[in-house]
Amino acid sequence: MSIEELSGSELGTKDFWEKSYEREIRNYKDNGDVGEIWFDQDSQDRVISWILKQEDIDLNHSVIDLGCGNGMLLLELGAEGFTSLTGVDYSPKAVELANNIAKDNKVKIKYSVLDLLDTESAKEFGEFDIVHDKGTYDAISLNPDSPKEKREAYIQSVSNLLKKDGTFIITSCNWVEDELVSAFEGRFRKSGHIPTPTFKFGGKVGSAVTSLIFKKI
Ligand SMILES: C[S@@+](CC[C@H](N)C(=O)[O-])C[C@H]1O[C@@H](n2cnc3c(N)ncnc32)[C@H](O)[C@@H]1O
Repeated sequence: MSIEELSGSELGTKDFWEKSYEREIRNYKDNGDVGEIWFDQDSQDRVISWILKQEDIDLNHSVIDLGCGNGMLLLELGAEGFTSLTGVDYSPKAVELANNIAKDNKVKIKYSVLDLLDTESAKEFGEFDIVHDKGTYDAISLNPDSPKEKREAYIQSVSNLLKKDGTFIITSCNWVEDELVSAFEGRFRKSGHIPTPTFKFGGKVGSAVTSLIFKKI
């Protein structure tokens, strides 16, 4: 399946994210508002319930959240008892915000600045049992400059960060299931999906977000 690239948008640029997290740091300091949970709280809750339902899940499994933003998913996993939590984002301001929130909630999470397009740094970063992405592959796909190459670098980084038998969970609002499977094929195979709400329009059924589970080939 050939993939048609998305039209570029400011959401695909680091400048956009740095500015929005700078604003969110101020909001958090002034009002205690943690900021946006992308694709809403329900998308995050569905991922967390899916993880908790897995028979072989172990609270010591290492989890990395790619493009963690404010880190809310990791914070919830910490509340569920997970002990090895890491969040990375290429925006230093996102890492600052996430660190502030984790500290205030007394949850131990390791946050680092990491650009997922830098495949070598991703290789040196270590390997994880669970690699999670909500909205980050989407943001990378919106880069106005060479999005195909950027998507491919990201997929290489995910492969570098995932243990051999690990699980990659991705939630996207820009790509449908077939497009995600096609983009990741060769390195990953789809092993499941997390059901998301569907809507019907003109006789066709669609979803606003897609959550898929992949294993490394
Ligand atoms: C749509 S937001 C999602 C934030 C968070 N995952 C959530 O669900 O609330 C996309 C995130 O990806 C980060 N991001 C975009 N490109 C990145 C890259 N190349 N490396 C690391 N993080 C990136 C942005 O800074 C932003 O925090």
